[in-house]
Amino acid sequence: MSGDRSGSGTRGAVRAVVLAAPVLLAGCGGRENVLHAHSHAERRISVLWSVMMTGAWIGFAVIALLLFLGWWRRSRPKLPFGGGERAATALVIGLGVGVPIVVLSLLFVWADLFVIRATDAPASSSTSLTVRVIAHQWWWEVRYPGTAAVTANEIHIPVNTRVNVVGTTGDVIHSLWVPELNRKIDLIPGRMNRMLWDADRTGIYDGRCSEFCGLQHAHMVVRVFVQPQAQFRAWLTNMSKSAMFSDSRGEKVFLAHACSGCHQIRGTPARGLVGPDLTHLMSRTTLAAGTIPNTRDELANWIIDPHAVKPGNKMPGFALSKTQTDALVAYLERLK
Ligand code: CUA
Repeated sequence: MSGDRSGSGTRGAVRAVVLAAPVLLAGCGGRENVLHAHSHAERRISVLWSVMMTGAWIGFAVIALLLFLGWWRRSRPKLPFGGGERAATALVIGLGVGVPIVVLSLLFVWADLFVIRATDAPASSSTSLTVRVIAHQWWWEVRYPGTAAVTANEIHIPVNTRVNVVGTTGDVIHSLWVPELNRKIDLIPGRMNRMLWDADRTGIYDGRCSEFCGLQHAHMVVRVFVQPQAQFRAWLTNMSKSAMFSDSRGEKVFLAHACSGCHQIRGTPARGLVGPDLTHLMSRTTLAAGTIPNTRDELANWIIDPHAVKPGNKMPGFALSKTQTDALVAYLERLK
């Protein structure tokens, strides 16, 4: 009877581990891996993490071994090892007080003097590019001071370049974190916090808002494109340009409806600053801060019923006819 019960208990535990494994392992891959360091700063963080994790496992193994030996010794009083009360007290003081003081002091010195300094915001004079990030519920505004470039949710930076990332918020507190590039910074009303990005490999690095900021906090992805210098310069030059005033049917729909009250398309009368700048909308890979891919169909769905895609967001749905929607999408598709 008891054998049966322990058998079903073991099976239950195995099942729980198997069910939990995908959830636990989901954090081990993808583009947001703290241990895939792609910058000098992040390498310091991942080494510290690995050392702390290894130390924690060693500590766990030592304590488990001591517990086992204690239990074993008790059940077999004739075993040759073990000591008196004095030896036990020395062990408790040594492992319980001495070792933690030494380990924590070393970690404090290492983290405080080396890791925090290496990952800290740089003096702006030591960087060759500044990117301003302003968080909103629930998207990212991105500006490049000294140029007219304004974009959203996708940040382009050149490889092997010290970038001064300056962040604030337009509403509540958010936090900007691209785990493969550096630690996170909080974006706080009325404050400019700074961080260094110094990517040493080209590629795409995802990040997200890491401070709960309301209903769509989970749909606030930021994507960083690290590009070769020339490619980045070409991108920035294009982003700085205004759109051509097309006078098309789609543009008329855009200007006649509330779109232009919230969105800016540089070069046209649309000067709204509530939502993302759409001057180069089609240069972006996703819509609604990483919520959906930036394709013709998704764009049309987003315009018709944004709340079905991202409930709670500030964009109202529009009662446009099929012809109006098609014309509007065709116009927006030309904004590259
Ligand atoms: Cu923005 Cu969470």
